[in-house]
Amino acid sequence: MTTTKAVIPGSFDPITFGHLDIIERSTDRFDEIHICVLKNSSKAGTFSVDERMALIEESVKGLDNVTVHAFSGLLVDFCDEIGAQTIIRGLRAVSDFEYELRLTSMNKKLNSDVETLYMMTSTNYSFISSSVVKEVAAYKADVSDFVPEHVAKALNEKFKK
Ligand code: PNS
Repeated sequence: MTTTKAVIPGSFDPITFGHLDIIERSTDRFDEIHICVLKNSSKAGTFSVDERMALIEESVKGLDNVTVHAFSGLLVDFCDEIGAQTIIRGLRAVSDFEYELRLTSMNKKLNSDVETLYMMTSTNYSFISSSVVKEVAAYKADVSDFVPEHVAKALNEKFKK
């Protein structure tokens, strides 16, 4: 029997309940879920890639078919490396569509064997993004409705000054 594998890529700077919603819902549908933190050469990010991975690992520790990776390069090359032909992305609102269309069209052009599947983010989380959560955390507001407790703690530490 073939093992079904899907890649959930992103910046995850940091992981939010929106990401976790997509990850958890994907775990029932594929044998293996591979979360991939893509290193972006042009964006430093708030958390280092190692910090982001540690925050993700802690968030998914109850999900036994999920593995966390970091990759520096093209997403389709990562898919090739682990033998996955499916990418999963979450869609929150129409405003995500244009950006996602660009990503998916480019990935399709780079490797037509890799298919991207979109999942609508649950409405409870449709307004959450890592950048909005960081903005709120920077003003010392409570972010516990948007991210797991250990991520809220890490955000508080980051914006302590
Ligand atoms: O969480 P994000 O920032 O919306 O995720 C974007 C990400 C990391 C999935 C995208 O930028 C990406 O795939 N980067 C890796 C480089 C790549 O493969 N580029 C080709 C598609 S434009």
